[in-house]
Amino acid sequence: MKKFLLAISLFTAISAENQIVPPKQDWSFAKPNGTFDRAALQRGFQVYKEVCSACHSIKLISFRHLKAMGLTESEVKALAAQYQIKDGPNDEGEMFERPGRPSDYIPGPYLNEKQARAANNGSLPPDQSLMVKARLYGADYVYALLTGYEKVPDNFKLNPGQYYNEYFPGHAISMAPPLSEGLVKYNDSTKPTVEQMAYDVSTFLAWASEPEMEDRKRLGIKVLLYLLLMTGLFYATMRRIWQGIK
Ligand code: HEC
Repeated sequence: MKKFLLAISLFTAISAENQIVPPKQDWSFAKPNGTFDRAALQRGFQVYKEVCSACHSIKLISFRHLKAMGLTESEVKALAAQYQIKDGPNDEGEMFERPGRPSDYIPGPYLNEKQARAANNGSLPPDQSLMVKARLYGADYVYALLTGYEKVPDNFKLNPGQYYNEYFPGHAISMAPPLSEGLVKYNDSTKPTVEQMAYDVSTFLAWASEPEMEDRKRLGIKVLLYLLLMTGLFYATMRRIWQGIK
């Protein structure tokens, strides 16, 4: 038992040492009553669509879900229709492609894991639906990773196809720096710096991993208010009941 505990504490110490704690960013959704910044969500989706989706799927998100970013029904329809979805079989038993509908899930770039690995030097670009939930430090980590590419230190060995990243555990990552200044053109007047795109796409991925967060927080505040009210009522009742007793 002692050995087991020692092994566990050693393991956590090692893994903690391997990962540098990312700086905390100022997220609109981090506060107890926080909400997702709709404009950042839409810009973040644009970054996902135009950049990340070349390698990463986001298979738990359907077009209809994107309404939560502040899109109208017809905007969602138009967006879905830009995608080709594999469907079928038809009456002849053939699979076919058709334009997307709001109820379709956003299609990923690869047919299967083998194809994904073959296209990425053997590494698998993980699905992004739950990325922010699945990683220690969540959105702060994703932001730090996207902005954390640096020159390789002199004594550090990288294999071909690997890049040095300050915040990736172990530092050798098989994802080339995906962002560069001006890579996307935003529709609002926001400047597409690497930091801005990283911030926006991290906001989008935080939303994707917990689209129901705003409801959860709203409910939490209501429950707290309710409990506070009940405490007051019970206190008053108690005073009343014990009033005559010295
Ligand atoms: C050219 C393909 C490619 C593009 C484009 C790309 N990635 Fe990746 N990404 C990868 C690969 C490959 C990995 C796996 C890296 C590894 O395990 O070493 C990865 C891993 C990741 C990880 C996980 C790191 C971890 O802790 O395991 C995150 C987060 C990530 N990418 C975010 C993004 C975001 C956000 C974008 C868009 C701005 C993006 N990626 C664009 C190929 C890509």
